[in-house]
Amino acid sequence: MSLDRPDPHDHREWLRTRELTLLERAYLTALIWLDRRLRVVDYLEFVETLYYKVNMQLPKSHTEQYNLDNKFWYWYPLYTLGSFSVVAYVVAAVTGALLGFYYAPAAASASGQPTVAYDSVLLVMGQLNLGYFLRSVHRWAAQVMVAAVFLHMLRVYFTGAYKEPRELNWLIGVVLVSLTLWFGYSGYLLPWSQLSYWAGQIGIELFLSVPLVGEWLAQLLFGGFSLSQATLVRMYIMHVFVMPFVTTALIAIHIGIVWMQGIAEPH
Ligand code: HEM
Repeated sequence: MSLDRPDPHDHREWLRTRELTLLERAYLTALIWLDRRLRVVDYLEFVETLYYKVNMQLPKSHTEQYNLDNKFWYWYPLYTLGSFSVVAYVVAAVTGALLGFYYAPAAASASGQPTVAYDSVLLVMGQLNLGYFLRSVHRWAAQVMVAAVFLHMLRVYFTGAYKEPRELNWLIGVVLVSLTLWFGYSGYLLPWSQLSYWAGQIGIELFLSVPLVGEWLAQLLFGGFSLSQATLVRMYIMHVFVMPFVTTALIAIHIGIVWMQGIAEPH
């Protein structure tokens, strides 16, 4: 590929002499403008080649291959559970980002008063327009995601879709289900309510009971051996910063592998 581009005046001449609709002319002018600066046509061609190369590897669907017509149709809803998990994840991410404008991860409180974190949740629930709705959608999306991911895992297991060559995607799935559960747990602690506090207590003792690495894990995940401001900040940063990046990247890899391998035949 050469960096040299034809003279722009040639393009203008070419465009002038064509019979084009206004839309076509606007599209081509924009494309040429972008191409002369960012070589977009080369990149578009590269993506197109990649698309056809990958698509050539996709096996036929099992209905096509075995000419099953609609005999297996009643299984199909179960094959949408992975996509259903993605939708729930996106809804949780968008509503979570909006909640982030109002939530404050601070465990401090004046004596006898609710903590700053709990107060910020009360504000969302009681003062903010549609705040009650926003928080409810976030919680529902989270719970639907946990259910969908779990059922998706069952579908993969009972159709034998984890077998060769899909072992890697199964293992990525194991990490994804753990991340999904940890998303739920860290989010549950954020309101720093009585429920959050005692769930945190159970969690910290659970990790402390792990042999050899228990104390190290409690220190890493909870910021110490008892609940404190450090616990809340760690849960917050994991919930809103670390895990969204890791989970989004892993979901993209997971679906990329499904795209390359095609959906498994039921075994
Ligand atoms: C955030 C969680 C997850 C998302 C968003 C997700 C998404 C998807 C999607 C969209 C598909 C395409 C087929 C379908 O929807 O059934 C798929 C396939 C697959 N998933 Fe997941 N998944 C997740 C978790 C898991 C878990 C927990 C496991 C297992 C431990 C798993 C293992 C697999 C395997 C092996 C396939 C290939 C299935 C086949 O070829 O029929 N995934 N996933």
